[in-house]
Amino acid sequence: MLSIAVFGSGRGSNFRAILDAIHAGNLPGVSIALVVSNNSDAGILSFARESGLPTLHCSQKQFADEAAFSRALLETLQAHGIKAIVLAGYMKKLPQALITAYRRRILNIHPALLPRFGGKGMYGIHVHEAVLAAGETESGATVHLVDEEYDHGEVILQRRVPVLPIDTPQTLAARVLEVEHQLYPEALRQVAGAWSFANSERNT
Ligand code: GRF
Repeated sequence: MLSIAVFGSGRGSNFRAILDAIHAGNLPGVSIALVVSNNSDAGILSFARESGLPTLHCSQKQFADEAAFSRALLETLQAHGIKAIVLAGYMKKLPQALITAYRRRILNIHPALLPRFGGKGMYGIHVHEAVLAAGETESGATVHLVDEEYDHGEVILQRRVPVLPIDTPQTLAARVLEVEHQLYPEALRQVAGAWSFANSERNT
């Protein structure tokens, strides 16, 4: 079994899509062993609790410095047997120690066609505002591996949506989000096979 942790800061609709895919049998061998948020009021945490999943509210503000924060996070992840991390609307930069410990085992989803419209400041509605301001005729969603730079690691899967002349940032965001909910479980399924194989090799 590949135990994953999902990190989020907001409403958690991508987390729901992944959980639905697990319940539907579309992510064989994957289980969500922990849901982590920096925000105690996040919808993702309430939904995880309602679903009976272990949750953790953990923010750097609770610790003296980044080293103490990442030590505590890493210990909890290890205690839950976490083998990979899925970022689903997580608004904080992951501490370096986590990126190093889970190198090529952290996924993120971004609501645009990376490498365009990514990086610092490109989050939430700002992404769709920028796409419309640039006069794009297409946008989409990207699932990628996480490295030290924002929205930068290797792309795993991408899907396009049209940008319509009548779009507002909100209508475009809704169209992209619908695609995200299909794309994230698919991308996770794609990498989970490789991750599980690597784990079984490690344990033999
Ligand atoms: C999504 O649009 C995702 O691409 C971005 O943050 C948003 C999270 O939405 N990284 P939700 O919390 O999964 O509903």
